[in-house]
Order: sequence, then C-alpha cells, then structure tokens
Amino acid sequence: MIPHSVNEMIHTNINVNEKGHLTFGKADCVSLANKYGTPLYLLDEARLRKNCREYREAVTKYFGEDSLPLYASKALCCKELYRVINEEGLGADIVSGGELYTALCTGFPAEKIYFHGNNKTDAEIVYALDKCIGCFVVDNHDELEFLNRECIKRGIKQRVLLRVSPGIDPHTHRAVVTGNVDSKFGVPIETGQAFEFVRRAFECKGIDVDGLHCHIGSQIFDKYPFTDAARIMLSFAAKIKKELGAEFKTINLGGGIGVRYVETDPISPIDVIMKGIKEELDKLVAEAGINTPVFLFEMGRFVVADAGMTLYTVGSVKHINGFKDYVCVDGGMTDNPRYALYGSKYTVFNATHADREYSQKADVAGRNCESDDVIGEAMSVQQFERGDILAVAVTGAYNYSMASNYNRVPRPAMVSINNGEDKLIVRRETYEDMGRNEI
Ligand code: LLP
Repeated sequence: MIPHSVNEMIHTNINVNEKGHLTFGKADCVSLANKYGTPLYLLDEARLRKNCREYREAVTKYFGEDSLPLYASKALCCKELYRVINEEGLGADIVSGGELYTALCTGFPAEKIYFHGNNKTDAEIVYALDKCIGCFVVDNHDELEFLNRECIKRGIKQRVLLRVSPGIDPHTHRAVVTGNVDSKFGVPIETGQAFEFVRRAFECKGIDVDGLHCHIGSQIFDKYPFTDAARIMLSFAAKIKKELGAEFKTINLGGGIGVRYVETDPISPIDVIMKGIKEELDKLVAEAGINTPVFLFEMGRFVVADAGMTLYTVGSVKHINGFKDYVCVDGGMTDNPRYALYGSKYTVFNATHADREYSQKADVAGRNCESDDVIGEAMSVQQFERGDILAVAVTGAYNYSMASNYNRVPRPAMVSINNGEDKLIVRRETYEDMGRNEI
C-alpha cells in the first residue's frame, strides 16, 4: 500500500514499486544505495530538463526571445549540471572563479555567463575578463572602478548590470533575504547612493551599462515580491531617464521562486508566477514612461531542487524514554546543512519499506558531532530499523553546493538518473582526496 497519494509524495518523480521500495525518476532507490553506497545524492535528469524547459518556455512566452533564462549556479554547481543547462538553452549566473572555471570546463559559452557577487577579487575579475564572459553584475563602486581600469587597459567596453537594492522584504527566512536597504549586496536606491553609482557607471569609458539588477530573496511563492521590486526598479529607471537622459536596456529581477519541500508548501507553477509578473510589469513600464527593457531572471532552486534526493543508511534508532525517538543516518549537516542554518523542513521516506504508514514522530539526526546536526526534528516518519535506506526528498538545491568536510567526512557521490538509468556524475570523495593539499 502506498502511504501517500501521488500529490502527497511531494513530487511526481517519487513513487513506490512492487517491492515496496521507493523510486526516484523511475530508479529503485534501494538498488542505487546498494550499487553506489550511501550517503548518495541523486539527480533526476529528466526532471531537471523538465524544469529547465518550463522555465525557458515561461520566460520566452512572457518576456520574449531577447530574454535569457539564467540558472543560479550556487544552487548546484557541477560539470554535468552545466552540460544539461547548456543543452536546454539556459545562461548561467556565477558568483566565483570556481563556478566560472567549472562552467568553462564543460564548454559552456562564456557570453552566456553573468558574474555576480558582492566582493569579487581582483584575480577573479581579471580571470573573467580573460575568458570574455558576457556580463558582470557590478555590486559596488570599488568593483566598478577596478573593472573600468582593467577594461580601459584592454581597450574594451565590458557589458555590465548594476546591482541595486530596492529595499524589499519578501517575508522569507532572514538568511536568504538580500534586497533590503542595509544588505551587503548592491547599492541602495533609498539612500540616493544607487543614483550616484549609475551616474558614475555611465561616465566610465570601459563600461557599457546594459541595465540594473536586483535579487530580493528566496523561496518566494507569488508574484508580489517580484512586482514590488520591479515597481521600485522601474521608477528608479524613470528617474535616471529624467535626470541623466539615459535608459537601461535590461532589468534583471533575480531568482527566488519557491519549491515544495513538505506537503504544506504550495505548488506554484512557474508559468503562473511569470504570467502574473508580466501583467504587472506591463502596467508598471507604462506608468514609468520608459522603453520596455528586456527582463531577465536567474532561478536556482526552482531548476534543481525537486530533481534531487539524498539516500542515507540508517544506523542507530534511539528511543529516549519519555522524550523522543531518533533515527540516525550516515550523513547529515556535512551534506545538507539547511536545517542547522535555516530550520528548513524536509520530507523523508523509508526507501526500503516505502509502503509503511507514517506512524511515528522522530528526529532524523546526522552522524556529525554537533547537536544541531539534524535533517529535521519531530518529523513524521515511517518506522525504521538499522540498515534501512532513508531518503530525503527535494535536496537538489543548496545541498551538494553547501556540503563540507566537517569531522573529516567525505562528500557523497552523485548519480544522475535518466528514466530509470543511472550514471555516476560525481565520484565519492576519499580520505586521500580530503588530505590532498596538506603538507
Ligand atoms: N540571484 C542571486 C543574486 C542570488 O543571490 C540568488 C540566491 C539567486 C539568484 C537564486 O535564488 P533561488 O532561485 O535559488 O532562490 N543557501 C540558501 C539560499 C541562498 C540563496 C542566495 N541567493 C538556502 O539553502 O536556502
């Protein structure tokens, strides 16, 4: 018996087979755990491509062929990911030399790369210029001046977006809000500093000001935070037109569309959100009295989250009399620090006995030496015994990319699934790998 309806399975790529095993992207999770060991990250390629297509189609339908759907690499950065998003026609937002290097290793087109970050180093800027990336998203005056000097030296004019903060709170977790006035990201509009930033950028001989950028936060389920930000961005663009006589070709509204981690999270199709944003933007552009810019977006979580799952092996199952139960797994905050950082909620399955009822509450704890090393507290779970495979759903975003070697735990392998077929895409780290740079 399947304990949940398909809807309650959180996402349609999760199911139960005739053996009572959990399947992900049509592959048997228990067989995968046996073949590759645990902890193990799974990446459902079919789902990843579906998400890319829905994103690309929505952007093209509502914002035209000139808009390029960007993928925010920080959500999941590995070579296979860049190969797939390139085939699916997405551009990439990167925030470091490391992400840039990884993308370029796969032949990802440099002109489709946007370089973000509030503190790019001189070396990273020079590296990105050497590789002729398409666009810098310039965060501040210091970066602008350095980039300008480097471009003048090279006799080029570099296309840039200027990151400004619109002063918006999207009512999401404090740690993932980035567009508030005192944020470390970008230059605030409210204080008048963004105006000076833009004015100076237009003077710079090495800089081609293409437009503005903002990103307000993450795990957003409706259009309003985006359209609130857009209202402020467009009225700022109108002020620039009036006072400097300059217009922006592009406005990038960042990423942030939310995904369903647990049953109580809404299902928010990207087409619906994009359509809502587009309708509001038409009105806002008309009100601002400016030429319609090209609108860009850069989703990370939406593209990869539900294409990911993590498999663990259950070790100890503990009952603390009169208090609680623990189900302990062979990974934890080293491969998924999101509960420790943000209290993020997840859905877990007993992949070995996926047909069991959700009959108890337990903390699913990791194996690392820190009390906060849990996947979740008081989670609704099926019964587990030592040796069962425990699956955590929707771990595609901000898990592998935020993994660490705390306690000298090697990072897991990653296997891509394509309609039931599996392929190793990231090898499991070894003890030697972890000590490789030590002398
Ligand atoms: N663009 C910029 C400038 C960003 O800062 C971010 C995320 C994105 C795009 C993509 O946002 P997304 O579509 O993935 O929500 N580690 C946190 C999330 C941090 C997000 C930081 N910026 C987490 O695990 O929830």
